Amino acid sequence: MGLAVPDLPDPAPAWRVEAADCLDFLAGLADESVDCIVTDPAYSGMNQHMQFGRGRIVGRYGEPGNTRWFQEFRDDPATFSRFLGECHRVLRPDRHIYVMFDSFSLLSLGALMRDHFNVKGLIVWDKVNIGMGHYFRRQHELVVFASKGNRRLSRRDLGDVWRIKRIHRGAYPTQKPVELFSRMLMGSVEPGMVVCDPFAGSGSSALASLAAGCSFVGADISGAAVTMARERCAAYATTGKDPLGR
Ligand SMILES: C[S@@+](CC[C@H](N)C(=O)[O-])C[C@H]1O[C@@H](n2cnc3c(N)ncnc32)[C@H](O)[C@@H]1O
Repeated sequence: MGLAVPDLPDPAPAWRVEAADCLDFLAGLADESVDCIVTDPAYSGMNQHMQFGRGRIVGRYGEPGNTRWFQEFRDDPATFSRFLGECHRVLRPDRHIYVMFDSFSLLSLGALMRDHFNVKGLIVWDKVNIGMGHYFRRQHELVVFASKGNRRLSRRDLGDVWRIKRIHRGAYPTQKPVELFSRMLMGSVEPGMVVCDPFAGSGSSALASLAAGCSFVGADISGAAVTMARERCAAYATTGKDPLGR
């Protein structure tokens, strides 16, 4: 379980979670309208490497009748590049973007970040416990940290290996700890800024944004994810507590 989410600032910031494909959602945002992007896309590459038996994916399935945890983003290089181009368009100048990658997608798609942004570094998320895998069992994920234009981190005391326990059997498949997104925002936002996540999932990035005093705009293609993220944001905005307790 991650650290407790800090108290909600006063006045409470605004949030919006849309049920939409990431590209449609981004197309609806004005140029230079968000201050930070933190996102954890649904890559298909890793899952293709994780198919066992009859091709089913090992794990719990998100919604009844689904043969997959959730719908994956069509992450061919052309589509991913379009996605990054849209992220660049909606991001204000001199702002930061954090994009999560697993090891497969980092090798196939990570370099495309350089076509659109100034890549500043690679952060390792050490999940503390080992996960699935036939070879070296996975204990980490990666975050590419980049900027549009120039912006320094507001803090100089942050390392690039983040040891944060992964969520085991969370309410949502691949639910990330709020603390992971809080670390991304720590040196990149100020209260009153707008944070964006086009793959919002259960809303962990939204909660981290609200806790940082920022507004949040996000989307997810899954109805179940959108419902969960909205309920989580609404509960947090009223009570200052994360109903999932992560
Ligand atoms: C890795 S999960 C994000 C998990 C999230 N960070 C959390 O902590 O709960 C990726 C999400 O992308 C969503 N997704 C898949 N394809 C999408 C698309 N084309 N547009 C928007 N969301 C999509 C999935 O429904 C899933 O919720």
